Amino acid sequence: MNKEIKFFNGENVPLELHKVRVVQKLHLVPIERRLEALYEGGFNTFRLTTNDVFLDMLTDSGVNAMSDRQVAAMMHADDAYAGSQSFFRLQKAVEDVLKKKYYLPVHQGRAAENILACAYIKKKGDLIPMNYHFTTALAHITQYGGRIAELLYDEAYNISSSHPFKGNLNVEKLDALIQETGKENIPFIRLEASTNLIGGQPFSVQNMRDVRKVADKYGIRLVLDASLLGENAYLVLQREPEFKNSTMADVIATLTGMADIVYFSARKLSSSRGGGICTNDHAIYREMEALVPLFEGFLTYGGISVREIEAMAVGLYETLDETMISQSPNFIAYLVNTLTAKGVPMVTPPGVLGAHVDAMRMCEHIPQTQYPAGSLAAAFFLISGVRGMERGSVSNQRDEDGNETYADMELLRLAVPRRVFTLSQIKYVEDRMVWLYKHRKLIGGLKFVYEPPVLRFFMGGLEPVSDWAQKLVAQFKKDFGDSL
Ligand code: F0G
Repeated sequence: MNKEIKFFNGENVPLELHKVRVVQKLHLVPIERRLEALYEGGFNTFRLTTNDVFLDMLTDSGVNAMSDRQVAAMMHADDAYAGSQSFFRLQKAVEDVLKKKYYLPVHQGRAAENILACAYIKKKGDLIPMNYHFTTALAHITQYGGRIAELLYDEAYNISSSHPFKGNLNVEKLDALIQETGKENIPFIRLEASTNLIGGQPFSVQNMRDVRKVADKYGIRLVLDASLLGENAYLVLQREPEFKNSTMADVIATLTGMADIVYFSARKLSSSRGGGICTNDHAIYREMEALVPLFEGFLTYGGISVREIEAMAVGLYETLDETMISQSPNFIAYLVNTLTAKGVPMVTPPGVLGAHVDAMRMCEHIPQTQYPAGSLAAAFFLISGVRGMERGSVSNQRDEDGNETYADMELLRLAVPRRVFTLSQIKYVEDRMVWLYKHRKLIGGLKFVYEPPVLRFFMGGLEPVSDWAQKLVAQFKKDFGDSL
C-alpha cells in the first residue's frame, strides 16, 4: 500500500512522485480568439486544434506522459512484418501482468470491440448485458445487429454519492435477464473497469466474483474491458477492505483471472498506443485469430508500430506501480473535493480518468434537448482555454428509428492524464470553474447543424441557440480585465 505523505501544515496535497524531464510549451490565447475557435470548430471541443487549447483535458487516451523507460524501450524495437522480437516482449508482458497466455494485438481499443462483436454477435437481437456502455463498444455491438442491457445498481445514477463502487454490475438483474432472454441469445457479458461514462466509477472484486458465478451458472463468457483496469485496481486497494494490504499485481491478476476474455485500449492502460485481446482459452483465441489480419495487420503487430509495441510492454509492467497509477486519481480527488466544497456539482465519490461536472445541475436552465453538457464544455473552453469533453446526450447515438435518445447523465469530463499537469494548473481549472459556476445562468443551449450518422459527437457541428457566448465574453472582460 502506498504511504500517504503528510504535510506539517495539515493540508491534503497530492504530492508528485516523479520529476519532469521533457516539457512542451503551452499557449493561452485571448478569449476573443477562443470565441472564434469555437465557431470554427462547431462548438464541439473535439474539433478544436491544440494551437487554441491551453490545458488539454479532452481525454487521457494516448496522452498520458510516458516514462523514461518507455521512451528508451522504443529505441530497441525490432522492425519486422512477421515474428518481431518486440511482439514477443509484449506477449510476455501481457502474460506476466494480465496472466493470459494468448494475445491478439489490435491498433486500439475499439478495434478489439470490432473483432469481439464480429466474432460473437451472430444473430440480430443478440444481447450483451453490461454494467454500462462505452460509446465505441455500443457502436460496434449495434453495427453487427446486437443490443445491450445496462445493469447498474440504482446508486450508480445518484450523482452525489459516497458509494465506493458505483460501477458494480447488478447481479440480481443479470440473473433475471438471462432467464428471460435465454442464454443462447447472450454471446457474452461485458464488465467495464472504472466505468467511463458514469464518471470513471469502479466495480469491486466481490462484484466481479458474483458476476462470474452467474456467468458460470449459465455457461456464458465474461469479457472484461480493461482499458482503465489499473485505476479500478487502485481504487479496490483504497476502498475494498479485503484488499487493503494487497498489491496492484494481486488485484489486477485477481480481476483478469475471472474473465474469459480481456480486451483493452493501450492508449489508456499502458500509456502508449495500441490495444489487445487476450485469453487463456485456445478455442477462444482461434475464434478471433483470423480477424486480426483481416482488420488490423499481421498477428505479430496488429496495426501497431513496433516502437509503440515496446512502449506498451514496459507500460504494462508500470501499471503495477501504485505510485504511477495513483497520481491521476489523486489529482482528480483533489479537484473534485475543492470544487465540491465551493458548491460546484460534481460526480462523487471522485472517480478516475477525470473530474466530472454535473451539467444537468449546473445548467439546469438548459433543457436536455439543447445539450447542457455540450454547452458547458463549450462555455468552459471559452472562459479558460481548458478543453474538456461532453459526456452526455451529444455522445449518445440515435435509436433504430432515428429518434434522439437522452443520456442518463449530462457530464462535462475534465480528464487528468497521468503525470501531465501540475498542481497550479489544476488550481487554475478550479478557479475558472468556480467563476463559471457563479455566472452559469449566462450559459445557453446548442443545436446540431451537422450530425454524422455514426459516433456523431466526434465530428458533429453545433451552434449556440442565442448570443450567450458573446454575453459570457463580456462578463469575463468585466471581471478579469485584460487577463488571459
Ligand atoms: N473502452 C473504454 C472503457 C474506453 O474508455 C475507451 C476509450 C475504449 C474502450 C476505446 O478505446 O479509444 O483506444 O479505441 N476511451 C477514450 C476516452 C476515447 O476518451 O474515454 P480506443
